[in-house]
Amino acid sequence: MCGIIGILGKSDTTPKLVSALKRLEYRGYDSAGIALIGAEGMDIRRATGKLAELEAVLEAAPVSGLCGIGHTRWATHGAPTKANAHPHRAGPVAVVHNGIIENFRPLREELIAKGRVFLSETDSEVVAQLCADFLEQGLSPEAAVAASLARFEGAFALAYLFEGEDDLMIAARRGSPLAIGHGEGEMYIGSDAMALSGVTDRITYLDEGDWAVLHRNSYQVFDALGNPVNRPETKVNLEAMAVDKGNHRHFMTKEIFEQPSVMALALSRYLSPDHGAVHIPEGAPDFSRFDRLVLVACGTAFYACHVAKYWFEQIARIPVEIDVASEFRYRAPPIGPRDAVILVSQSGETADTLAALRYVKGKAGQVIAIINAPESSIAREADLALPIKAGVEVSVASSKAFTCQLAVFAVLAILAARQRGELDEQGEKSLIDKLVSVPRLMDEALKAEPAMIDAARELAKARDILFLGRGPLYPLALEGALKLKELSYIHAEGYASGELKHGPIALIDDLVPVICFAPVDALFDKTVSNMQEVMARGGKVLLVSDATGIKRAADGTWAQIEMPNCDPFIAPIVYAIPAQLLAYHTATEKGTDVDQPRNLAKSVTVE
Ligand code: G6P
Repeated sequence: MCGIIGILGKSDTTPKLVSALKRLEYRGYDSAGIALIGAEGMDIRRATGKLAELEAVLEAAPVSGLCGIGHTRWATHGAPTKANAHPHRAGPVAVVHNGIIENFRPLREELIAKGRVFLSETDSEVVAQLCADFLEQGLSPEAAVAASLARFEGAFALAYLFEGEDDLMIAARRGSPLAIGHGEGEMYIGSDAMALSGVTDRITYLDEGDWAVLHRNSYQVFDALGNPVNRPETKVNLEAMAVDKGNHRHFMTKEIFEQPSVMALALSRYLSPDHGAVHIPEGAPDFSRFDRLVLVACGTAFYACHVAKYWFEQIARIPVEIDVASEFRYRAPPIGPRDAVILVSQSGETADTLAALRYVKGKAGQVIAIINAPESSIAREADLALPIKAGVEVSVASSKAFTCQLAVFAVLAILAARQRGELDEQGEKSLIDKLVSVPRLMDEALKAEPAMIDAARELAKARDILFLGRGPLYPLALEGALKLKELSYIHAEGYASGELKHGPIALIDDLVPVICFAPVDALFDKTVSNMQEVMARGGKVLLVSDATGIKRAADGTWAQIEMPNCDPFIAPIVYAIPAQLLAYHTATEKGTDVDQPRNLAKSVTVE
């Protein structure tokens, strides 16, 4: 899931390439590079590590040119070294690539046998080498790219630059996203509208299999069969893409603290003006038509599905299956017209989730997407796309997108319950009232931050941490552990409280903190028993509960974090706050890179 950018400009493009790469850094930050066609020919600058390293290289050895391509890398094939950094050059061709060329090995061997010399360990270099080979055979750049694309298996978004051609750029996509941007006498390509937001708000999204030949004043898109096609130009809302940290030290805290307001926005979008009923502006799905729901996603979005399973089953009495997209897509699950499939993705570009969508399309009764990026591939390919309205999420670890995904799921569960006769008008109103109180309760939960900072100071010393929860708080235990792992690099696991005694309890000693998410609900006493089992073995329990729960069960615990009293229906949304803030403060205590944790990327467009 690298980020790519290309510019055919009227003035030096170097600063524009670098600033576009800054907006793409969330896609990967193992290395970065640019290639430009300048007065002296083609020039390439590359550096390992974050973009700041490339900026230092450019300061020491400046380059300029009217057209150029750039790349920020999340390594798949080959370590994050300078040699493996993009752009890759072969003869007169420079290429940047996002995706994986799955058959690169046989192609590479074929080209080596012809005498071509490879300089990197990447799958991507084969793209440049194959194109250079076709050029040597006398093909034009357009024909060489078309011939190359026919040889590739796998997923790619590509941008090609050719020495001696300063008014030509060729772009192609299959599996990975790519958009053309239109300027005044300038033309751009980028991985997404965000990359292009510094230069234009006029975007043409390429469809699956498309490739395009770009000049400064014209362009032509071809479909996978090589037929010229027209793709619509859309205007994107640049204001919505403007992002800064405000008064916060990290995007992560800004996004955590934004949750009460974005949650209010997300909820009001899906409720009638008087907040008396669910209202889906895009047209409500009819859940009475379905016998089963299948919820599919990756990472944090998957845990939103996991919470939603409890809601749909308990409130709407509809069976729900959940799976991570990388498993779902390959296990050939039977899907039929009486199944509705809901795919959840913040970015709307996650490769496995997109592949799962394509698998169910045409099989399921309806394919619904819950997404944050409204122009994304998943949004465009679903039968019905429901935006979560979280606003741009920059921090690699998801926070506000998770709670807004939960908001959309909660309204869908209420809708399904109404349509299936499990809830009357009064019942609908009462659940909506609870949902409407969530922003206020999140605000209160955020006020418990000082207790979380204190706890995090101790957590930062641990090597292993366990999270426990029951019912819909079980997925929150999983999410709390995931957040902690990805932000602080401390090993953490989430368990259903009742599962503890079936193995994980063997890990308990006074060095392993156990964090219990335990609002007072029907299962509270059972969770307290599980906590007692931990404490009886010397374990240190951090109890996250409401005032009543803390009063009833704090005895013997190491620390407590008080959450507002909330109805069990909405507790999983409110308890997301301690799951996120505990991870955040443990990470800052350890001094890790909170917004860009090592080895991760925000948008995972490779399998
Ligand atoms: C990456 C991110 C996670 C995210 C997951 C799914 O792993 O680091 O925060 O939950 O991808 O992304 P999506 O865009 O599909 O929600």
